[in-house]
Amino acid sequence: MKAVCWQGVNELSVERVPDPAILNAQDAIVKVTASTTCGSDLHLLGGHIPAMRAGDVIGHEFLGEIVETGPEVTRHRPGDRVVVCSIIGCGRCWSCRHGDWSLCENSNPNPGITDLMWGGSTAGIFGYSHAMGGFRGSHAEYVRVPFADHNAFTVPEGVSDMDAVFASDAVPTGWMGADLGGVRPGDVVAVWGCGGVGQMAARAAMLLGAERVVAIDRYPERLAMTTRHVGCEVVDYTTTDVVSELRERTGGRGPDVCIEAVGMEADSTGLQRVYDGVKQRLRLEQDRPAAVREAIHACRKGGSVFVLGVFAGFVDKFPLGALMNKGLTLRGAQQHGQRYIPKLLELIGRGDLKPSHLATHTMTLDEGPRGYDLFRNKKDGCVRAVFRPWI
Ligand SMILES: NC(=O)c1ccc[n+]([C@@H]2O[C@H](COP(=O)([O-])OP(=O)(O)OC[C@H]3O[C@@H](n4cnc5c(N)ncnc54)[C@H](O)[C@@H]3O)[C@@H](O)[C@H]2O)c1
Ligand SMILES: [Zn+2]
Ligand SMILES: [Zn+2]
Repeated sequence: MKAVCWQGVNELSVERVPDPAILNAQDAIVKVTASTTCGSDLHLLGGHIPAMRAGDVIGHEFLGEIVETGPEVTRHRPGDRVVVCSIIGCGRCWSCRHGDWSLCENSNPNPGITDLMWGGSTAGIFGYSHAMGGFRGSHAEYVRVPFADHNAFTVPEGVSDMDAVFASDAVPTGWMGADLGGVRPGDVVAVWGCGGVGQMAARAAMLLGAERVVAIDRYPERLAMTTRHVGCEVVDYTTTDVVSELRERTGGRGPDVCIEAVGMEADSTGLQRVYDGVKQRLRLEQDRPAAVREAIHACRKGGSVFVLGVFAGFVDKFPLGALMNKGLTLRGAQQHGQRYIPKLLELIGRGDLKPSHLATHTMTLDEGPRGYDLFRNKKDGCVRAVFRPWI
């Protein structure tokens, strides 16, 4: 089959790789009908995620049709149209049973790497390095889905492919940020980043009853898209002092909940930009945390900051003093999609959530490298490129 493969830093190619086969009784094989780019893939391309190997198939946000099931799959049968959670849970371990699916203790066959890096192993993720299990990704014609009963979700009739595909990753990630960030009715919420994840976090905050939601980015087309499709306020961080502006809009207090949806390659302005850029290139800090710093600084006393953006290791100039003295709660996680996907598909079905606008570009798998060029470099207003292998 055809697949988009990582070959090295900023290097992708379309290759022929062997078709996947059922390896475990709980596996299903999914014929991919839509698979999208995600900000997390940019960290792979940038060479910031360890344990990638040339030839690895990337991609993790996808929708497809079940074509084969192992003997222990009971909830699905060939022909089901399913969205698959980007992060793999077993459904049986302590973490999965407690709803912390991205901390699954069984789905990552190489737990040693993350255990060593972080003091605890995390779940397997499709197409996201050998540290996350070495699973083949979804920018391919077929994918093997482990523990299919727990990771594949039947898409209700009436929900379009282009809405459903984002229930794999961007929608549940955004929802988790608002939910676990503790958004309550009447809150003011600020979201850093107007990519797919930030936009979905802002929308989730609104649906959870936030009174005001302010989303922050620099790209005019992303800001305009957020105003139009999410319906919240926006701020351009290159022309506005974000912290003062958020104070101004919250009667001097700062937002109750700050959601960071930017990650380890955050852009910044002024001295901070030079400082983080040099330190990251010299490997003196692994991640550039500009948006996390700003969120902590802006957050109201006693408020909460949720980090959705992906970070891999150590950061510099972390404002621990502000965190401690302002009594903030700081949390982060890879998404626990399995908790939310059924409910989110319902919200999509009712029209409360409509993520399909994120699919700014649709193309064949052969155009994978071009799709990533558009997405990575924010060309032509690209927010998500969607590959449809069978079109
Ligand atoms: N926690 C999870 O499970 C999970 C799931 C999906 C994606 N992610 C992560 O979420 C992050 C966002 O993903 P995405 O797909 O929306 O990515 P994206 O690259 O499309 O969007 C990121 C946005 O952040 C903006 N940005 C950069 N620096 C900023 C700053 N200082 N302040 C405000 N905005 C800034 C960029 O202009 C860009 O529009 C990535 O780090 C990705 O890895 C996490
Ligand atoms: Zn993702
Ligand atoms: Zn588990």
